[in-house]
Amino acid sequence: MSPHLEDLFSFLRFASVSTEPQHKTDVERCAHWLGQKLTAIGLTAQVHPTDGHPIVVARNQHVPGGRTVMIYGHYDVQPVDPLNEWASAPFEPEIRDGVIYGRGTTDNKGQILAHVLGVGEAMKEKGELPLNLILLIEGEEEIGSKHLEEFLQTHREELKCDVIAVSDTGMVAKGVPTFTYGLRGLAAVELRVSGPSSDLHSGIYGGTIANPATALAKLLASLHTKDGNIQIEGFYADVAPLEKWERDAWATLPLKDADVAALTGVPELFGEKGYTALERIWARPTAEVNGIWGGFQGAGSKTVIPREAFAKLTFRLVPNQNPKDIVQKIHAHLKSHCPAGVKLEIHDGHSAEAYATDPHSNFGKAAQRALKTAFPGGEVALIREGGSIPIVNTFRKVLGVETLLLGLALPDCRAHAPNENFPVENFEAGIRLNHALLNELAE
Ligand code: BES
Ligand code: MN
Repeated sequence: MSPHLEDLFSFLRFASVSTEPQHKTDVERCAHWLGQKLTAIGLTAQVHPTDGHPIVVARNQHVPGGRTVMIYGHYDVQPVDPLNEWASAPFEPEIRDGVIYGRGTTDNKGQILAHVLGVGEAMKEKGELPLNLILLIEGEEEIGSKHLEEFLQTHREELKCDVIAVSDTGMVAKGVPTFTYGLRGLAAVELRVSGPSSDLHSGIYGGTIANPATALAKLLASLHTKDGNIQIEGFYADVAPLEKWERDAWATLPLKDADVAALTGVPELFGEKGYTALERIWARPTAEVNGIWGGFQGAGSKTVIPREAFAKLTFRLVPNQNPKDIVQKIHAHLKSHCPAGVKLEIHDGHSAEAYATDPHSNFGKAAQRALKTAFPGGEVALIREGGSIPIVNTFRKVLGVETLLLGLALPDCRAHAPNENFPVENFEAGIRLNHALLNELAE
């Protein structure tokens, strides 16, 4: 195996699951491994502890008069469950048919390490980089970057830069250079519906009280019309309509409704009428149930009325929806639609607005030239994405700079899911992309 792949495998073996307390030391060890790697390639690196997971920062020796570029990424990963659906263990990476399998391969260890190793190669060859580089790699991206904003505020001077580059998004298809100029935002809420003070015999009490699980199901069902439109009053009020050029450009991409159906394995697509799948994913807001539980889950049957039921929801937001305003509207809807006979508690989670940047800015054009160099042959696809990287808005707010999104993930990378994967080819392309990008941005 090449030294680069060996580095990636070492990085992937840390179970750096940020959301799970039992992995706290794995996350920390991963941060320190990264710090050492960054030092080994010739950068000055620091692992900054936070009240959550560490933030790793590295920089090269100052190049007087040079531009300053920040590359941001994350070393934390999502949980692995359902574990039995993995063909190989999530933290024991494996290459099958030129594709690396393991949690974090694509999101985001493979992509961020490609940049790190690209920098390492350039330093080895030339002894220096063509510009001032800051690498900022955090361990809480998957849980809403809780401590990064404060870190940016307190280290604002040292982190001053001209532009930020991130490889944590996708490509529309293998080999198609892809520049992302928009991301959806997010609002998370958790619901608890409760009724009786204890679980009850469903024969002794059934028919006399509201069942919290049924009430929760009704409440969740009230979020959408039968066609998939969101029924929360005023939810769409501020949604920026799709531009004609976007619809035209996206219609030419090699990712059609049938491809989305095939990628997901559903019997048929479902969602707002009048939009293609890509338009719905990239430019329309959503309401999703991420988890729902309550009552008896074991084998067999148990005749019980559960005393409580729960759901975790996230809403994806688009320009110009305001997360605070949307959260208020969500509360109002849930309160007014909660069935009688139960109590509803709503706990707010993290939220972030959508991101949009100008793909035709000078930096945007430079990034697209770099993508063409790394993936020769094709035209650069200009897209938005359905996922969220909330910190990019904070970068704009605190550091006053725009973020360039140059993703390397493929549509079937299975991020957040079992059998997450990243082609060796994309990992190598990421290293080429780093060289091209630093050269383009230096000019
Ligand atoms: N890399 C993703 C974001 C992403 C995914 C962008 C797909 C474009 C396409 C990132 O690591 C991520 O998963 N973010 C979370 C953010 C959330 C936890 C606040 C997301 O989008 O769910
Ligand atoms: Mn992710």
